[in-house]
Amino acid sequence: MAVREILIAPDPRLREVSKSVVKVDDALRTIMDDMLETMYAAPGIGLAAIQIGIPLRVIVIDLARDDEDPQPSFFVNPEIHNPSEESGLYEEGCLSVPDYYEDVERPTACTVRYLDYQGNAQSLEAEGLLATCIQHEMDHLEGVLFIDHLSRLKRDRILRKLKKDQRLAAAE
Ligand code: NI
Repeated sequence: MAVREILIAPDPRLREVSKSVVKVDDALRTIMDDMLETMYAAPGIGLAAIQIGIPLRVIVIDLARDDEDPQPSFFVNPEIHNPSEESGLYEEGCLSVPDYYEDVERPTACTVRYLDYQGNAQSLEAEGLLATCIQHEMDHLEGVLFIDHLSRLKRDRILRKLKKDQRLAAAE
């Protein structure tokens, strides 16, 4: 396993629409292992493959607390079904938008159909933080970031600051 570099907004690759995985094989499992290690190292609770520059429909999530054993979940070609009519606010952050946290409104529950680490078809009823996290990561597969759910003013301000931070970092 290896820790990969995480792309930071406004990197244009984060706007790519990811492609469906044709086969869950060892090559894909290597990518999933690297995604997990990269996410743990960050640290974060969710990561989409495009965040390490791989435009495939794969996400990893682990919502275990620090005092719990790791509970990694891998979602290949995930699809959301039956989003709840009820929606709620969660304060979201993103490893590709470091240091910014904002409330985002999303359906509070949904069904997710996907292939797991072994390539087996699975279905999961998600609610609360898990539902939020899955929807956030699935946005990445469409080239969407959580800041796209904010007002244009807020989003542009965050993107400007991120750009400036990167210029400063590059100049050091
Ligand atoms: Ni994210």
